[in-house]
Amino acid sequence: MTVDPTPMPTPQAPPDRGDTTPPTAATVQALFDRIAPVYDDFNQQLSLGLHWVWKRMAVAWSGAAPGHTCLDLCCGSGDLALLLARQVAPGGQVWGVDFSPAQLAVAQQRASRQWPHPAITWQQGDALALAFEDGTFDAATLGYGLRNLTDIPQGLRELRRVLKPGARAAVLDFHPPSHGVMRQFQRWYLDTVLVPTADRCGLTAEYAYIAPSVDRFPQGDCQVALALGAGFTHAVHYPLAGGLMGVLVATR
Ligand SMILES: C[S@@+](CC[C@H](N)C(=O)[O-])C[C@H]1O[C@@H](n2cnc3c(N)ncnc32)[C@H](O)[C@@H]1O
Repeated sequence: MTVDPTPMPTPQAPPDRGDTTPPTAATVQALFDRIAPVYDDFNQQLSLGLHWVWKRMAVAWSGAAPGHTCLDLCCGSGDLALLLARQVAPGGQVWGVDFSPAQLAVAQQRASRQWPHPAITWQQGDALALAFEDGTFDAATLGYGLRNLTDIPQGLRELRRVLKPGARAAVLDFHPPSHGVMRQFQRWYLDTVLVPTADRCGLTAEYAYIAPSVDRFPQGDCQVALALGAGFTHAVHYPLAGGLMGVLVATR
């Protein structure tokens, strides 16, 4: 794993449930470091395994193909990077970038257990200041990460910058549903399924960030506008799961 020599700021306590103040980068990093050991199990339980379906759709929409060089930004424990690596084989290469060393350690362990080893380089880095040349990648994915960036427009500008002209990024994330019933369902799910599950595992504070982060995150049409504002030439948002989440597909 390549380690970014830039020291990260001192971690702070996670925000309280219902806190609408956007957390700092250091808070987000510390939070994902703490939940790294349980993150995969939680995703699996809370989505009933459906997150794999949505992640496969994101990989397909990214346009990744054999021989490509691809980026999985905010890769966490590596689900999307591992899927991308299968998609670009033979001959392709994937970079998984995240600023949480604990998430990257889990990702690296998972990859090392696969045979043949997937062609993935794990890199600790900041999505807001990527250590890649302009026009490096043939395709990119970003799963449930854009919502956590402290500067979403800057994250989109960096994503665009490192893509080759004509290449696509597929950005999968929750957002507030436009339909009132689905909005109520999402609130019910977060309050009565996710938070109690986190409580039982002693992770109340760690998972309190999700509801406010979803509330703050822009809906599909606004994501499209942000992508175009960041310089992408084309952008479209595909809603998934009844509008609880979606994939923004943006072309450089
Ligand atoms: C909800 S997790 C998603 C992980 C993975 N993509 C997935 O779909 O399971 C969000 C990830 O974004 C990372 N992250 C947030 N802000 C970041 C930044 N500025 N630079 C790099 N990684 C960041 C966190 O460390 C965390 O691993």
